[in-house]
Amino acid sequence: MKIMVTGGTGYIGSHTAIELIQAGHEVEILDNLFNSKESVLDKIAEIAGTRPVFYNCDLLDYAKVLEIFQNGKYDVVLHFAGLKAVGESVEQPVRYYENNITGTVNLLKAMQETGVSKIIFSSSATVYGDAGAILSEDSETGHGITNPYGQTKFMIEQILRDICVADSTFSATVLRYFNPVGNHPSGLIGEDPNGRPNNLMPIVMKVATGEIPELSIFGNDYPTEDGTCKRDYIHVVDLAKGHLAALEHMKPGFVPYNLGTGKATSVIEMVKAFEEAAGRPLPHKFAERRAGDLPELCANPAKAEKELGWKAEFTVADAMRDTLKFLGKE
Ligand code: NAD
Ligand code: UFG
Repeated sequence: MKIMVTGGTGYIGSHTAIELIQAGHEVEILDNLFNSKESVLDKIAEIAGTRPVFYNCDLLDYAKVLEIFQNGKYDVVLHFAGLKAVGESVEQPVRYYENNITGTVNLLKAMQETGVSKIIFSSSATVYGDAGAILSEDSETGHGITNPYGQTKFMIEQILRDICVADSTFSATVLRYFNPVGNHPSGLIGEDPNGRPNNLMPIVMKVATGEIPELSIFGNDYPTEDGTCKRDYIHVVDLAKGHLAALEHMKPGFVPYNLGTGKATSVIEMVKAFEEAAGRPLPHKFAERRAGDLPELCANPAKAEKELGWKAEFTVADAMRDTLKFLGKE
C-alpha cells in the first residue's frame, strides 16, 4: 500500500515507518520538523533500506497539504502529527487546538478531496480521563480530561466518529497509546525531542547523560505499593508493530484499540530497571505531586490481541537496554 505518515520523523512515527517499509509498504512522510529532525530519514533508510519521500510541510498549510495529496494518491493515512506536551497545552490552549484540531481537519479535507477513506489516528489513554485504573475500549471517554492536549485527542476521535456516521465506507482506526518508551534496538533512532522534555523517559535519559542533575519523582504518597504512580509502559517497537497489525485489519467505521501491555510499573520500578540495565545509580529525589497525575493507569489490551492478533512482547528491561544503546550512539 502507499501510505502517508504525518509526523513520521517524530518518535513513534519514525519507528512505525520502519515497520511499514520492512513489511513492503511504500511510505511517504509529511512533517514540519517542529519536534523532529530531517536526519531521521537517513536513519530510517539505514535500518529499513529505503528513504521515504519527505515533505517538509505544516498541516496548517492547507494548500500545500492538498497539493501533496493530489500528487500522492495514497491508500491510507497514518496520522501522528501533533503537539503533545500536556503542561504546555494548559498554558497555550489556542496553539494546541489550532495545531491539533485545525491540522487534523485540513488533513481530513485533503483526504476527502482526493478520495482517501482510511486513517489510523494516534490517540491516547488520556481520552479515558478519570474512567478508572484499568481501561478497556468500552470504558467511558471524555469525562475528567484535565488538559487541552487530552481534549484535542477526544475531539479528534469525535470528528472521526462523525465522519464514519456520514460515510459508511470510511475507516477510522483509533489507537489509544498508553506510555511509549524505549527505542529501536539498532540504537540508531529514538526519542529525541527538541527542547526540554516533559515525559519520564526523556528526562531519565537526560539525567543519565548529566544534562539534568537528577530526576524528580512526582509524589511518593499515592495509594500504590511503593507510593509512586503506576503506568503501562509499552516499548515503541511493539507500538509500531501494533500499527502494522491495525493496518492489516482495517474495516469501515470508527474502531478504537488500546495499545498497551496490560502491566503497570511504578516510577520507582522504572528507576530500578534503568539502574539495573545501566549498572549504575540514577540520581533521583522525591518531589511534590504533579497536578493532574492519576495514581494508576493500565490498558486492558485484550481487544487488540483478539481482533488484530497483536500483543506487546518487549519488557521494560528491554526498553531500558535499547534506551542505553541509543544514548551510546548519540
Ligand atoms: P513527536 O513530537 O516525536 O512526533 C510528532 C511529530 O509531528 C513531530 O515530528 C512534529 O514535528 C510533527 N508535527 C507537529 N505538528 C505538526 C504540524 N502542524 N504539521 C506537521 N507536522 C507536525 O511525538 P510522538 O511521541 O511521536 O507522538 C506521535 C503521536 O502520538 C502524537 O499525536 C501524540 O499526541 C500521540 N501520542 C504520544 C504519546 C507519547 O507519550 N509519546 C502518548 C499518546 C499519544
Ligand atoms: N514522572 C516523574 N518525574 C518526571 C516525569 C514524570 O515522576 O520528571 C512520573 C509522572 O508523575 C507519572 C509517570 O512518571 O507518574 C509518567 O509520566 P509521563 O509524563 O511520562 O506520562 P503520563 O502518564 O503523565 O502521560 C502520558 C503521555 C500523555 C498521555 C498520557 C495518557 O505523555 O501524552 O500518558 O495517560 F496523555
